[in-house]
Amino acid sequence: MAIVIIRQDGKIDLWKKALQKANPGLKIYSYLKEHPKEDIVMAVIWKHPKGSLAHYPNLKCIASAGAGVDYIFSDPTIPEDIPITRIVDPYLASDMSEHVLAVILAEIKNFNIYKVQQFNTDWNPKIYRRIKDVTIGIMGLGELGSLTATDLKKVGFNVQGWSKSKKNIGGVKTYSGTKSLELFLNTTHFLVCLLPLTPETEGVLDKKLFAMLPKDSYIINVARGGHLVDEDLLHELDNNHLSGACLDVYHQEPLPKSHPFWKHPKIFMTPHYASVSDTNSVIPQIMDNYERLITGKTLQNQVNRTKGY
Ligand code: GLV
Repeated sequence: MAIVIIRQDGKIDLWKKALQKANPGLKIYSYLKEHPKEDIVMAVIWKHPKGSLAHYPNLKCIASAGAGVDYIFSDPTIPEDIPITRIVDPYLASDMSEHVLAVILAEIKNFNIYKVQQFNTDWNPKIYRRIKDVTIGIMGLGELGSLTATDLKKVGFNVQGWSKSKKNIGGVKTYSGTKSLELFLNTTHFLVCLLPLTPETEGVLDKKLFAMLPKDSYIINVARGGHLVDEDLLHELDNNHLSGACLDVYHQEPLPKSHPFWKHPKIFMTPHYASVSDTNSVIPQIMDNYERLITGKTLQNQVNRTKGY
């Protein structure tokens, strides 16, 4: 019995070392090297090449090395009936919450403008906004969204959340379902997208949704590039309906150098780093699931294939 690691971001050795440290006797292979395919019972993957999971006749678990699993469902060759697990990790949630807080504080206190002014030796104080006067709207109230909502509320922001099904989060006004979306958006100054990417949420950040936001609202997409219709965002930024956007995720990553987002003055970009699985923190749950798999116990953090997350 063995594990194969499949990812294309140059981190196979890092993951192999960390998994091996947690279980020195276990056979762990890189998919890039020669390995006995019939021995593999678990694949630990992140954005695998499509089709690469079809080579393992005895595969019994697909373990996503991240919280998101949309990339797995976009591969039509993934074996049916094999459980898929995802990462649920307190650091993934707290890293996300810290990132969103940093973005919003920098924006309301004009830090990005001052950085540009500094380079132009321009002394030009701007009007700033106070936390208590700002309403944050979080779309998607899963593990990451609900912690982000709670943390921002503690800091003093007005926080409201929207999700497909009703969620209750202390101190946070919550909306659910398509009918209440407009009400939620109408009063949101900073819209944070933390939805799972499914066929239903693909392209949700489009001109129709932007039109429901008040003028000068700001978009933060830290979920998946597929949620956003790029041209619609550019259009609403250029016609001054939206004041800006902070993007961490893109349709194609790394974002092609010719993409208009790179040079857009109202877009602040980060390279998909808002919240990334930390091997030290997440390996114990992968190893725990491996033990469960080989002893026939129920796996933790299983993905619901019907829901797609
Ligand atoms: C990161 O994007 C993740 O899904 O873990």
